[in-house]
Amino acid sequence: MNVGMVGLGTMGAGIVKRLLAAGHEVTGWNRTKAKASELIRAGMGWADSPAELAGASEVVLSIVTDAAAVRDVALGPEGIVSGLRSGCHYLDMSTIDPDESRAVAAAFKRAGLTMLDAPLSGSPVTLEQGKASIMVGGDLGAFERVEPVLLDIGAKASYIGASGMAAHMKLAINLVLMVEVIAFGEGIALAEKGGVDREVAVEAMLNSVAAAPVLGYRGPFILEGRMPEHALADVNLQQKDMMLVLEQGRKLGSPVPLAAAANEMMNACRGLGLDRRDFVTAHEVYRRLGGFER
Ligand SMILES: NC(=O)c1ccc[n+]([C@@H]2O[C@H](COP(=O)([O-])OP(=O)(O)OC[C@H]3O[C@@H](n4cnc5c(N)ncnc54)[C@H](OP(=O)(O)O)[C@@H]3O)[C@@H](O)[C@H]2O)c1
Repeated sequence: MNVGMVGLGTMGAGIVKRLLAAGHEVTGWNRTKAKASELIRAGMGWADSPAELAGASEVVLSIVTDAAAVRDVALGPEGIVSGLRSGCHYLDMSTIDPDESRAVAAAFKRAGLTMLDAPLSGSPVTLEQGKASIMVGGDLGAFERVEPVLLDIGAKASYIGASGMAAHMKLAINLVLMVEVIAFGEGIALAEKGGVDREVAVEAMLNSVAAAPVLGYRGPFILEGRMPEHALADVNLQQKDMMLVLEQGRKLGSPVPLAAAANEMMNACRGLGLDRRDFVTAHEVYRRLGGFER
């Protein structure tokens, strides 16, 4: 298929690599063109605007930072909506507020076009391993038509429900993921304070029933010299999702006390100047609170 990818950051670049490997014709666009060089060398085509990209693609995907960025690339001047052809589909894979996603979908509907929310659960690591899972909200027939493309990106593609439902489900998943990763830092710091060597503690935790896939690849980052220079998801990016979870809890009247506590640890990371590190760095905050020497 001809697939267009808007947003070539960490996740967008990873998705393009999987689509190219599966044999799709891929056209890309990114606000900062320099990030596309490696992908262009790997065979990706380039479009000068989201509208031009949409005009050349049967399926258009976007994955950008937040709702403001989605509005810019989807509805802004030279946005996807002004180039997408009838019968083709637009899927936004960013993690954003469900109501913001529904508003963009409604604008596409007014233009006689289809937009689906299609957030992805996984990291650059799971994406590369082909283990990411994609959830879709919106028109069921459109989901069925694009499903084969989604299965070339990740192992699972699930239809969640009406427009915005997949964006909502993604926040529920991220709530659990964020609490797990922060609790991991808390547990390891406690083990260390009691005298267990950090490396031994991490291994024991990852061998235990408490281990989840997210801890398997992220947990070892807290070992000496293992924190990656380029975070899988840094404190700022992850806190964006925590704020979305807190807001959903408020709007729906559904309490999220564990998410609130995890969010406080993100505030502490930022206060200590750790905001560009992968958010598993919350472990470092627990160590400092527990009186460890740095
Ligand atoms: N990292 C993860 O593990 C992960 C996993 C699942 C979902 N997500 C979600 O996926 C989305 C992207 O994450 P990422 O890790 O790929 O982030 P990233 O590496 O920081 O990339 C962000 C992308 O958004 C673009 N962008 C931001 N503002 C824009 C605007 N106003 N107009 C046009 N483009 C704009 C950036 O363009 P420039 O290059 O020009 O800055 C870049 O392409 C986020 O919603 C995130 O929550 C991330």
